[in-house]
Amino acid sequence: MSLIKSGLILVGFGAAAVAGGIYFGAVHPGADEPHSAVVFKLIETARDRAIAVRAHDVTVPALGEAAQLKSGAGNYAAMCTTCHLAPGMAPTELSQGLYPAPPNLTQLGAPDPARAFWVIKHGIKASGMPAWGKSMSDEYIWNMVAFLQRMPTMSPEQYQALVASSGGHDHGGGESMPHDDTMPAMEGMNSGSGDHHGEAAPAAHDDTGSAPHAHDAPAPAPAPHDDAGAPPHDHDTPAPPHDDAGSPPHDH
Ligand code: HEC
Repeated sequence: MSLIKSGLILVGFGAAAVAGGIYFGAVHPGADEPHSAVVFKLIETARDRAIAVRAHDVTVPALGEAAQLKSGAGNYAAMCTTCHLAPGMAPTELSQGLYPAPPNLTQLGAPDPARAFWVIKHGIKASGMPAWGKSMSDEYIWNMVAFLQRMPTMSPEQYQALVASSGGHDHGGGESMPHDDTMPAMEGMNSGSGDHHGEAAPAAHDDTGSAPHAHDAPAPAPAPHDDAGAPPHDHDTPAPPHDDAGSPPHDH
């Protein structure tokens, strides 16, 4: 048998194995089921190379001016902390539930500014990382990179002060949340820096109370629970800090 023929047979077997794997659903799609170490390493290496190749052409401007840091902090507090956290902030449901996990940028910072810029601008396919370049110009993205470089050295108080001194969520148009200059910025998911949940609902939260709304309790129809006065948020794990004032009931 010629080399070409045996090569073709091998390729045929490979294609059949891949098709069979897809048909029988061999790859677990759940975000709560990690890839095997080998598969994870493969994907990670492919991602890192693909980013490195593209970030290579990015020219890094001067970073670190006070105005840049302020602007970056305000936008970071408004758009990024639910996934990437901030100094003094407890893990959130998103930071823990996404797979691949968002890196904790309070520790990582931005050791490679060109890479950070590229990722923030373009996002990463099939991960939770959005392409912020769709709504934000390069200047504002660089401001965030400048801020990210400093964040690992900041105390919670320094971070809060910087955010408070910033203009909040502001990148010259395209912002998806109402501008809010009063942001305290440290309440975690529902931080005042951009209340994603609007002003609706009086929110009868009481995370310290009893637990009528357990996640694993099959909800009997038609009325699973009574939101008036009941503590709706309870799922047996340390929940992220909630800003109960003004947010709607956290109802899973
Ligand atoms: C909905 C969750 C989510 C939000 C919001 C989010 N990110 Fe990400 N981000 C991710 C995930 C997930 C990854 C990792 C993707 C991967 O590993 O392939 C990531 C990766 C990154 C990285 C790459 C880190 C590295 O070098 O490996 C940077 C930098 C980053 N994000 C910055 C930001 C900034 C700045 C914002 C706000 C403007 C933001 N992200 C908002 C989920 C998010």
